[in-house]
Amino acid sequence: MKEIVLPVHIGFIMDGNGRWAQRRFRPRAFGHRAGVQNMLKICEHAFELGVRIVTVYALSTENLRRPPEEVEELFELFRTYFGKKRARLLELGVKFNVVGDVSPLPEDVQQSLVELAEESKDFQKGLLNICLNYGARQEIVRATNAAVAAGRFVDEDSFKELLMTGDLPDPDLIIRTGGEVRLSNFLLYQAAYTELYFTDRMWPAFSRRDLEKAIENFSARERRYGNVRGSKA
Ligand code: IPE
Ligand code: IPE
Ligand code: MG
Repeated sequence: MKEIVLPVHIGFIMDGNGRWAQRRFRPRAFGHRAGVQNMLKICEHAFELGVRIVTVYALSTENLRRPPEEVEELFELFRTYFGKKRARLLELGVKFNVVGDVSPLPEDVQQSLVELAEESKDFQKGLLNICLNYGARQEIVRATNAAVAAGRFVDEDSFKELLMTGDLPDPDLIIRTGGEVRLSNFLLYQAAYTELYFTDRMWPAFSRRDLEKAIENFSARERRYGNVRGSKA
């Protein structure tokens, strides 16, 4: 890759698993399985390139309203990858952090997530946030209620700390695969000045080279944060 400005924090909206599978005349669950495998591959590449924080949208609050068979299949995949195949995740050498309300997930899956966070807590290569049953609106409402319950006013920074992503830096770049041009309730507060990148590629087919292209595209952008070109202020 040529000289580039790397994003410190990338978010992925990993969309398109179902359509990818259906186009191959396979069940949607086949796409989800391929999607998890691709998540491992793409996260590994992102950290190898030097990205420090990756946040993946694995399950939205709204996704739990899908047909129960599909939700069950997703839970089964979580059971496999956070449980039996956890070594594959730990090989990434990064710290894991779960973002979202995991209480509707099966108890054994919740338990393996706790173990995953514990086993990886000293890993240094980066941080991988996995958003599970995550919704930004719910997160904002929850944070607001926490402030009210504590009887305190907040400012932008103290409010941000009440969010589930805590004091992490905001994402520099959010990549959404699958062709839709929307955020679907992902990091709404944190993404105020995030660069957004949309691609028609379905998530299971999103390649290492596609990631590099997205980063090159990011690198060529000018982030002005409401200011004027070239200002140092
Ligand atoms: C994204 O793929 C994964 C999850 C939402 C769990 P989809 O399942 O939304 O795939 P499409 O968008 O239907 O193709
Ligand atoms: C967004 O994809 C959520 C995840 C990728 C986990 P969806 O497939 O749920 O989004 P919509 O329904 O197309 O907005
Ligand atoms: Mg989708």
